[in-house]
Amino acid sequence: MPHSIVIFGASGDLTSRKLIPALYLLHRKRRLPEDTVIVGVSRSDFSHEQWRASLAETTAKFTGDAFEPHLWDEFAQSIYYTAGDVQKAEDFQAVAKFLPEVERGQPCTRLYYLSTMPSLYEPAILHLGTAGLADETDGDRRIVIEKPFGVDRETARQLNDVVHRVFQERQVYRIDHYLGKETVQNILVLRFANSIFEPIWNRNYVDHVQITVAEKVAVGKRGDFYDGAGVLRDMFQNHLLQLMMIIAMEAPVRFEADLVRDEKVKVLRAVRPLKGADFARDTLRAQYVGYRKEKGVPANSQTATFAALKLGVDNWRWQGVPFYLRSGKAMSCRTTQIVIQFREPPHLLFNTPKRNLFDANRLVIQVQPAEGLQLHFQTKVPDQGMQLRLTDLDFRFQEEFGRNLPDAYQRLLLDALNGDASLFARSDEVELAWGVIDPILAAWRSPAAPTLEFYEPGEWGPAASTQWMRDQGRDWFDVCPMLKGPSEE
Ligand code: BG6
Repeated sequence: MPHSIVIFGASGDLTSRKLIPALYLLHRKRRLPEDTVIVGVSRSDFSHEQWRASLAETTAKFTGDAFEPHLWDEFAQSIYYTAGDVQKAEDFQAVAKFLPEVERGQPCTRLYYLSTMPSLYEPAILHLGTAGLADETDGDRRIVIEKPFGVDRETARQLNDVVHRVFQERQVYRIDHYLGKETVQNILVLRFANSIFEPIWNRNYVDHVQITVAEKVAVGKRGDFYDGAGVLRDMFQNHLLQLMMIIAMEAPVRFEADLVRDEKVKVLRAVRPLKGADFARDTLRAQYVGYRKEKGVPANSQTATFAALKLGVDNWRWQGVPFYLRSGKAMSCRTTQIVIQFREPPHLLFNTPKRNLFDANRLVIQVQPAEGLQLHFQTKVPDQGMQLRLTDLDFRFQEEFGRNLPDAYQRLLLDALNGDASLFARSDEVELAWGVIDPILAAWRSPAAPTLEFYEPGEWGPAASTQWMRDQGRDWFDVCPMLKGPSEE
């Protein structure tokens, strides 16, 4: 059966930067289902040819050496454009008439991709419904919704209500591009396709877990948007909590959308709610120096561009094991890393200088860049008596498989086309994730807020963050010096 992908908000950055390059690369690998057509919808007036020409330029820029003009020409034949305003019901009627023309009147699987401004999701969804575009008589109809999905639990719930007035949950694909990253999927493989990690993946062996998503870039041109969002909404509610769920979840019985998501949701349900004095003790917020001078940012902005949280998971596996989550803009390097810090051996027979937790075993999962895994362990230094040193087993995807890892959107678009929602967020998951973040956001607006700290761009967040960990007898593990991977943007 043919497939069509209808992109609303087609003239936006996401389409040219991510979606079309990902679809082109899938075409190049012959992975797109046969007879796939792509239809762009946005307010600007373009002919099919004009849109194709503009996409040719941007795709060449974003795919580099993989851009082959003859393959692009072949692919571009299946790209169409029709002007439409997502706020106008009548424009959806026009889209409903146009689609069968390019689908040659055949039944087909259709994917509606909402890549508009988030404030337009609701009208777009309702208009899709009124125009009969969610009706599945002539094939499956699915909707892909970009983040942010609401700005808090209440707005996420409202948006879910609107979605469910038109689509059933099985038709809905809420994107979190972190789930499409190869290394994030590999965490599931590491944990559940090997037998040596799972027995020690619990409170008996793990002291704590660190999840860091550091970015070197500052807010750039997005000051206006970012100041209303801040790091908790922009990174924690989605990406960091997704990573935490994948690390903390139990094994699903099968790799199927609902079974995977059931297990992830259980983690969110087990996250211990922060209350009262917890906010000042277990959360940190900071802003990089110079943020208030960014375009669109008020001179007295209190928005955090860095945060660190200590979360507990109240279940048998994780009781007493802190999960430290941190993320920031304008940090010293771009890295997403997860550190599983194991406990120290219960008794040490070698006569070594005083040790601390940092000398214990550690598994470092480098999500990006330099994607790979390092297992740190003690080794005897040769010819030095019983001197020990922490060394590591270093696995790098690029070295092992000899190629660059594909961008997350390739996998996610393909999964959505094939009807596999395992790597997409379910309605309850999104709402529960807001349920973790909302109380922190509220506390940060109240007298219970921790002091807003400051850090110079290029630092690892504020000094208070280092001290905060030290006070708990721990240290952040900073991977920047180890990075040998592709250079920064
Ligand atoms: C987005 C955030 O969701 O993720 C951005 O809105 C952030 O602020 C980006 O820069 C990070 O994604 P990645 O894939 O570059 O780590």
